[in-house]
Amino acid sequence: MSRPSLLVTRKLPNAVEARLARDYDAETNAIDTILKPDDLVARAKGKDGFLVTPADRLDADLIGRLPSSIRIMASFSVGYDHIDVKAAEARGIAVTNTPDVLTDATADIALLLILGAARGAAAGMAAIREDRWKNWAPTGMLSTDVRGKRLGIIGMGRIGQAVAHRARAFGMEVHYHNRARLDAGTEHGAVFHATAEDLFAASDILSIHCASTPETRRLVNAKTIALLPKGAIVVNTARGDIVDDEALISALQAGHLRAIGLDVYANEPNIDPRYRTLENAFLLPHLGSATVETRNAMGFRALDNLDDFFAGREPRDRVRS
Ligand code: DGY
Repeated sequence: MSRPSLLVTRKLPNAVEARLARDYDAETNAIDTILKPDDLVARAKGKDGFLVTPADRLDADLIGRLPSSIRIMASFSVGYDHIDVKAAEARGIAVTNTPDVLTDATADIALLLILGAARGAAAGMAAIREDRWKNWAPTGMLSTDVRGKRLGIIGMGRIGQAVAHRARAFGMEVHYHNRARLDAGTEHGAVFHATAEDLFAASDILSIHCASTPETRRLVNAKTIALLPKGAIVVNTARGDIVDDEALISALQAGHLRAIGLDVYANEPNIDPRYRTLENAFLLPHLGSATVETRNAMGFRALDNLDDFFAGREPRDRVRS
C-alpha cells in the first residue's frame, strides 16, 4: 500500500524522523535551511501534505500556489499565526497544531524570564563575562523580589495557567485578563480583570500568553505600557508582534519599566538591535519549547494528527479560522 507523501520543512528530532521514515514517504530537510516560498511550492509537487514549523510563512499567496494534492498542513507548534488558516480552508487544506505538550516547558521559560528580569540576571552575567565584578557589596547590583508582586497574565489558557501555578509557589499574587473568565475552581484565587487595560494598571510584572491575532497585535504599546505602574517588568513568551518594540524600548530607557524578559521577537531572528544594548533586558532566542522531551512530544503530536488525517479520522488538534 502506498504511504502518504509529505514535505517536512525543517530537520526534526531523530526519534520523530525515525517514525516519519517508518510511516510516511517523507522528503526531509537534513541541512535545515528555511525553504523559500518558490522552493516550498516546487517541492509540494506530488505531496499529500506538509509538516511545517513557525519559521515557515504560509500566507494566502503561497497557499494559493500549492498543488491541489496538498490536503493537510501539520504544524510543529502550538501557535499557528504563520499559517493563513482561512486561505487553507478555502483550498480544503486541514491545519493542525501541537497544544498541551509544550505547556510546562514554556511556562518554565516564562518563570526564568520573570526571575531573570526581576533579579538583574542579564547585568550580572555581563559583569562576570566582562570581568567587571570587583567584590561583593551591600549595595551592589540590587534588584527586586518577586515575592509579594502582582503578576498580570494576559491570556489565561494552558500556558497562562501553568505560569500562574508556578508564580504562586514564588509568592506572587496572580491577576489575569482573558476573553472569558475562568470558573472559580480553575482560577485558584487569581483576580480577573475584564479589560487588558485594567490588568496593566494592576500588574507589577506583566507576562504575555495570548495568541497573536489581529486583536492582540501590538497590544503592548505606548498607551498600555503607560498604564503599568512605574518600575514594572514585562515578559513575553508568546509572540513578538504582540509588543510594539519602539514603545517597550523607550519605556525601558526612560525608566518607566525596570526590566524586560523576552523569548520572542517581531521579525525573529532579526531583532531590534537596541535590545542587545540594554542590560535590563533578559533575552533568550525563542527557547520556550526547546527541550529534548518537549520537541520529541511536539513531533509525535504532529505525527498523531497526520496519522489521524490520513486514516480518515478527524485530527485531534485541527484548528479553524
Ligand atoms: C509554538 O509552538 O508556537 C512555540 O512558539 C514554539 O516554541
